[in-house]
Amino acid sequence: MRIKIVGTGSYVPERVVTNEDLAGMVDTSDEWIKSRTGICQRRISDGIGTSGMAAMAARRALANGGVRAEEIQLILLATSTPDCHFPSSACQVQREIGAVHAAAYDISAACSGFIFALNTAYSFIVSGFYNNVLVIGVDCLSKVVDWKDRSTCVLFGDGAGAVVVTVESEADKAVSGNKAGNSADVPGILHMIMGADGTKGHVLSCESRTVGNFLTGTEPLTGYLSMDGQEVFKFAVKKMPEIIEQLLEESNVKLEEIKYFVLHQANYRISESIAKRLKIPMERVPVNIEKYGNTSAGSVPILLDELNREGKLKDGDLLVMAGFGAGLTWGAALIRW
Ligand code: COA
Repeated sequence: MRIKIVGTGSYVPERVVTNEDLAGMVDTSDEWIKSRTGICQRRISDGIGTSGMAAMAARRALANGGVRAEEIQLILLATSTPDCHFPSSACQVQREIGAVHAAAYDISAACSGFIFALNTAYSFIVSGFYNNVLVIGVDCLSKVVDWKDRSTCVLFGDGAGAVVVTVESEADKAVSGNKAGNSADVPGILHMIMGADGTKGHVLSCESRTVGNFLTGTEPLTGYLSMDGQEVFKFAVKKMPEIIEQLLEESNVKLEEIKYFVLHQANYRISESIAKRLKIPMERVPVNIEKYGNTSAGSVPILLDELNREGKLKDGDLLVMAGFGAGLTWGAALIRW
């Protein structure tokens, strides 16, 4: 079975916010932000919401893949910052793009969300339920960041990325491959890993609405994103190399065979440290964090779309995509382009 990403798309808001802009708002500096994170600027929404960004990215992915919205059977949208409690952002996108035959729902796994959604799409296709799935990773973290807190507000940006995942042909559907559903030498999604550790939820969290009603006598409160940066850093640089090694070992693929490691963009130093631990050069670890900051569920598909549009992905290339985030959660996927 060849389960392939046939189209990619992304969208970031037009408004650029530089480190200098933030230095005018909180006690920080361009030098501090750049040297600690690699971020130079980020895009911040001046109005467009989560579903609006997602719909833009989705339209671009459909156009890139030559797939019509009506052909999509399922929309999986990963986000932690939906515009509404309900309807889901996925349903809002379904309406906006006219994907009239698609079921649609959201997945919440923070910055790992896109990988979780991609792996879920993949499982649905392997099990024969759907052939064409639209997978979106999107976040509008500017809604939940405390713009007075210098330790978090400098890190994040808004953005969306999307991919269209399909089974190559009906004939292929009947042919079963290895346990990942694909043999390692044909294009497609070859293997995946997901994990979670709810006991570490407190190191990166954002309360949506506390209980407040006629019984408590209080109004519900909404919270800001809060984070123990050093704990998250330590977790990421340990867990990412571990799962990448596991993913490759279970797939019988060597590190040297991977063209690009498309990693969640949280901090340049995190990506660098993962590369160092895996003993791979940074040329194989593409980064765009300097332009967008951490766009959470948007970061991996935005980076993938950039690589695709720059013509850097050739048929047969092996890619690892991997992410980590609040939950704590982590996930990885091995892809042959
Ligand atoms: N500008 C200037 N100074 C700042 C600052 C800012 N924006 N943010 C924090 N500081 C200060 C701190 O108050 C601290 O000052 P002190 O030494 O006087 O107490 C000092 O800088 C060092 O802070 P520290 O937290 O030790 O810095 P760090 O090197 O660990 O870098 C992060 C902080 C947040 C950049 C880093 O820990 C990180 O990237 N963690 C991972 C976060 C992440 O990726 N989250 C999302 C995961 S999906």
